[in-house]
Amino acid sequence: MKGISKEPLLEVKNLSLGIKKGRNILSAVDNISFTVETREIVGIVGESGCGKSLTALSIPMLLPQGAERIGGSIRFNGLELSGLSPKEIQHIRGKDLSMVFQEPQSSLNPLIKIGAQIAEPLELHGENDRALNRKRVIDLMDSLGLSDPEKLLAVYPHQLSGGMCQRVMIALAVVCKPKLLIADEPTTALDVTIQAQILELLKKINTTLGASILFISHDLSVISRLCDRVLVMYAGKLVETGMVKDVFTHPAHEYTRGLLGSIPGRDRKGKPLASIPGKVPSLEEGRPAGCPFNPRCGKAQEYCLTEQCGSSFPVETDLGGGHKVHCVLAENSHGN
Ligand SMILES: Nc1ncnc2c1ncn2[C@@H]1O[C@H](COP(=O)(O)OP(=O)(O)OP(=O)(O)O)[C@@H](O)[C@H]1O
Ligand SMILES: [Mg+2]
Repeated sequence: MKGISKEPLLEVKNLSLGIKKGRNILSAVDNISFTVETREIVGIVGESGCGKSLTALSIPMLLPQGAERIGGSIRFNGLELSGLSPKEIQHIRGKDLSMVFQEPQSSLNPLIKIGAQIAEPLELHGENDRALNRKRVIDLMDSLGLSDPEKLLAVYPHQLSGGMCQRVMIALAVVCKPKLLIADEPTTALDVTIQAQILELLKKINTTLGASILFISHDLSVISRLCDRVLVMYAGKLVETGMVKDVFTHPAHEYTRGLLGSIPGRDRKGKPLASIPGKVPSLEEGRPAGCPFNPRCGKAQEYCLTEQCGSSFPVETDLGGGHKVHCVLAENSHGN
């Protein structure tokens, strides 16, 4: 309807996260903003240490010890999460907002049968009718294409393969029909065929349950198979964002180009696998004042931009259609 703008399901604004080190706080995530709309699948991609997991964990207020939110706001489903008490956030976590992680085996309780573990979030959120819960779990597993749910409910975690454990974890995360599922590298520890099945399962959760998904991966090819939109993170900063189809066909940041170049089999018949020289700076080394990718960026050197983007982080350039980038080259060519 004209004149009424709908709030995004998740709106993260100017989020900064730090790691305590003695008396200092080291910057791990610096002033990032993004949204996830209802029913949208958004990916966060970046190399190890870029701040993907901390960003994900900060949303349900699950930051590890030593990490803290320095600033910014996190609005979810019309509610500011950062001001909630632990009790208040517990009402939301596991219900409207849910998470799955990389290591499914270590997240399941080895002593409890699968069926009881999947029903647990329902009980925690006040659904105490056991027979009804069992039926809901079986219906859910059926709808997600998990074969033989009755049998599956009666086994212990150690009787399941890694892939099956991850499917169970995902079922557990969505049993309360969350509005948003945050999945942090859920396929990284699995082999390629199982990985494809998990991606299918997540797609199904998005279409049949209508859940939005924030999907984290260091692998752009996995992101491209699942996500509508992607956020590219480098050393704690968001450097590029846009629809997957745009970012894949017209990457605007040299870091995104580097990530795309390291995908095997992509327009590179017979050519060696490209990788980005250098590595992500550690928190202790400190992040550069300007574009953190500047020291590794071939374009910065080619166009003698090392001064310009080495001293201040480039402003956002809007390339249209929601495609945005922080790079002086885009700034210059778009006449900002
Ligand atoms: N609990 C912690 N204590 C100290 N440093 C931490 C902690 N958690 C994260 N860090 C540091 O913060 C930075 C960002 O970490 P984060 O786990 O968010 O990266 P990531 O992008 O998820 O990487 P990966 O792909 O390896 O999972 C890294 O330099 C990491 O070493
Ligand atoms: Mg991580």
